[in-house]
Amino acid sequence: MKQRQQEKRRSLFDGPDDGSQSAQAKSHVSADTARVEIEKLVKEINRHSYLYYVLDSPEISDEQFDRMYRRLKELEDQYGYTPPDSPTLRVGAPPLEKFEKVRHSVPMLSLENAFSHEEVFEFDARVKKLLKSEGDLEYTVEPKYDGLAVEIIYKKGVLYKAATRGDGYEGEDITLNVRTIKSLPLGIEPGHAPDELEVRGEVYMSIAEFERLNAQRREKGEPVFANPRNAAAGSVRQLDPNVTAARSLHFTCYGTGVARGLNLNSQSALFDWFKKNMFPVPAGYGVANGIEEVINFIKDLEVKRSSLPFETDGVVVKVNDFRLREILGEKTREPRWAIAYKYPAHQAITRLLDIVPSVGRTGVVTPIAMLEPVRIGGVTVSRSTLHNWDEIDRKDVRIGDTVVVERAGDVIPHIVSVHTEKRTGRERKFPIPAHCPVCGSSLMREGGEVAVRCLRLDCPEQVRERIRHFASRGAMDIEGLGEKTVDVLYEHGLVRHFEDIYKLTREKLLGLDRFASKSASNLIDAIEGSKRPSMARFLYALGIMHVGEFAAKLISANFQNVGELYHVQPERISDIRQLGGKIANAVSNFFGDEKNIQTIESLEKLGLKMENPDYKKTEKAEGLPLNGLTFVITGSLPVPRKDLEDRIEAMGGRAASAVSKNTDYLIAGEGPGSKLEKARSLGVKVISYEEFRQLAKNAGAEA
Ligand code: IVH
Repeated sequence: MKQRQQEKRRSLFDGPDDGSQSAQAKSHVSADTARVEIEKLVKEINRHSYLYYVLDSPEISDEQFDRMYRRLKELEDQYGYTPPDSPTLRVGAPPLEKFEKVRHSVPMLSLENAFSHEEVFEFDARVKKLLKSEGDLEYTVEPKYDGLAVEIIYKKGVLYKAATRGDGYEGEDITLNVRTIKSLPLGIEPGHAPDELEVRGEVYMSIAEFERLNAQRREKGEPVFANPRNAAAGSVRQLDPNVTAARSLHFTCYGTGVARGLNLNSQSALFDWFKKNMFPVPAGYGVANGIEEVINFIKDLEVKRSSLPFETDGVVVKVNDFRLREILGEKTREPRWAIAYKYPAHQAITRLLDIVPSVGRTGVVTPIAMLEPVRIGGVTVSRSTLHNWDEIDRKDVRIGDTVVVERAGDVIPHIVSVHTEKRTGRERKFPIPAHCPVCGSSLMREGGEVAVRCLRLDCPEQVRERIRHFASRGAMDIEGLGEKTVDVLYEHGLVRHFEDIYKLTREKLLGLDRFASKSASNLIDAIEGSKRPSMARFLYALGIMHVGEFAAKLISANFQNVGELYHVQPERISDIRQLGGKIANAVSNFFGDEKNIQTIESLEKLGLKMENPDYKKTEKAEGLPLNGLTFVITGSLPVPRKDLEDRIEAMGGRAASAVSKNTDYLIAGEGPGSKLEKARSLGVKVISYEEFRQLAKNAGAEA
C-alpha cells in the first residue's frame, strides 16, 4: 500500500516545476514575511515527509502535500531564498564528472559474523569475560539491513556531505545522491543540532522497488540487478543524481562517527535521539536483557523477515552501554562490542557443469542443471532446476557459467542469475533437445508453449503416469488400478505398457505383497469390465496432449472408428467446429507415430473393443441442403457466429473453425482475419453473408 502511495507522491514531489501554478498563486508580500512563510513551509513539509516516508502514517493527503510543495518552490524562486534543509534541494542537481574522495574522520568499521546461535552465546561469554562481569548484559538487537553503509555529515544541523564506506578509511562523495533519499532529513532542528554529527547507516532499496526497477530494465533490454543490495549500490553510485532520484531509496540509521556536542551514553539513547529528530531507525529494533533475549529476538525475526518489505540478512547485536563499549574497544577492523548474526544463506555461487534434459511423467522434458556441489544453508546442492528451456534463454545460462543458486525452505533449488562478467569465452550454450533423452523419439514443441514434450507412449519415464491416467475414472475406469497399485505393478515389471494391463492374471497378482485372493480377483474383473469403452473414453485414456474428455467426444462424433484417425491430417481435425490448431496438431502427431498405432492394435488383439455412440451418422444429413459442405466463418456478421454455425449444421453442413483444403466456403464478414488470406492461398471460395443466404436458398433451404 505504502509503495503505491509513494509512487504517486514521488511523481509530484520530484516533478520539474513547470511554473504552471505560479500565475494563480503569485502574491506579493514583503521579503521578511516571505522568509517566515518559506521557513514555516520547509518545516511543515519536512515533518509531513517524515510522517509519510518514515512512520508510514501521513496526516495529510498527497494533494495537500503537493500544494504546500509548489507554494514553497514558488516563493523560493520569487524571493531567491532557499533554506539549506528545504525539500526542494533534494532534486535538480546537474550530473557529476566523477566522485570526489572523502576521508572518514573515524574509520568505518566492519562487524564480526556469527553463523549459529552458539557463536552468539560465545560472543556474550567473551564480552562478559573482558568486562569481568557475571550478570546479564544489555544488548541492542537490530535487523541487519542488506544495503550499503553510508556516512552523512551534518554541520551545525545542516546536511553537509555524504560518503560511501569505501575501504573503511576513504569513501566517495555521494552527497547529491543521498539528498534525494526522502526518508533522510536534510537538517536538524537548531535547538537540538550538535556542532558536528556524522550519522552512519544503511542505504537500501525495498523489495517492491527492486522488482519495479528490474521489470522496467527488462522491458528496455537493460541488464537486471541480481538483488536489492546491488540495485541500491548501483543507484547510489550514479553520477547523475536525477537517476538516483527516480529510484526510491531508503535509509536507516544505526550509529555515529564524530558526534561533537551530542552527549549520549547508550545505543538506545541514540535511537531515541534519532527518532526525536526525525531520523529513520531500524524497523523493530529492541533492547535485550541478557543473551537469551537476544536469541529470542533472532528467532522471532527469522519468522518475520520474509514478510518485511526489505531484505535483512541477519541481526546486529551491540552492547548497549557506550561506557562498556569503551572498555571493550576494537580490533583492527571490528569492534569487540558487536556481532552480526547471519541467517543461514539461501543463496550460493557455484559453477554450472552441465545441463541435462530430464523427462517428467507427463512427457514434459525439462533442463536440469548439474552444479559443482555447494553448501547452501547446511545442505549440499549439486543439481537444480532450470524450469524450462525459455528460462535458459532468458537468463542466458551457459554450461561453464558461474551461477547464483538459491535454496529456500523445502523448495527445489533454482538458478537465480548468471555472473556474465566471469565468462572466459569457453562457455557453451545448450540447445533445446530435439530427441527424448530416454526413448529417443522426436520431441514436440508448440508455438506459444514453453513445454517441450515427448509424445511416445512407451517412454519409460512417462509410463506410470500414463497408466494411471489410462485407468482413471473418466477414462477406462478400471477400479483398483490407482496410484499405489500402478507403482507396485511397475516396480515388479508387470506393467510397462497399456497392453500389459490386459495381460495381467490372478496368479501374477497373487505373487505380490499387495494382493490377497479377493483383491486380485477384483482387479482382474475390473480390467475385464473395461474392455468395451466408448471411442471417446478410449481417446481420452490415451492421454494425447490437449485432448480432454470434451475434445475426445467431438473427435468421436466425426470419425467412425479409431482406424480412421491413423495418419490423419491436422486439417481434418481442425475442420471440426470448436477444435483448434493445437489439438489438431497434437492428434495428427500422435496418430502419425507408427508405434502408437501398434499399441492400439495390440490392445484390440487383447480383446479391447470400442463402441462409438457419439458418431454423428451422415445419413442424417443426407437430403439436407448443405450436406457435404464445409464452411468457415471470419470477420463480423449481421448475426451471431454461433447462430450461423447452428444453422449451417441444421442444414446438414459442417461449420469448421479453421480454413483447410477441405473447406468449401469461407463466409467473410467485416474485418476478416488471417483466414481470408489462407482461403485465398488455398483457392477456397470466399462468400459474403448475403451470398451464403442465396446459396442456402438455391440449395432449397430457408436461410
Ligand atoms: S553497525 C562498528 N548496525 O553491516 C559497527 N551495521 O557487516 C559497524 N549493517 O558495514 C556497523 N545493519 O553496512 C551496523 N544495524 C546495523 C546494520 C549494519 C546493516 C551493515 C553495515 C556494516 C555491515 C557489517
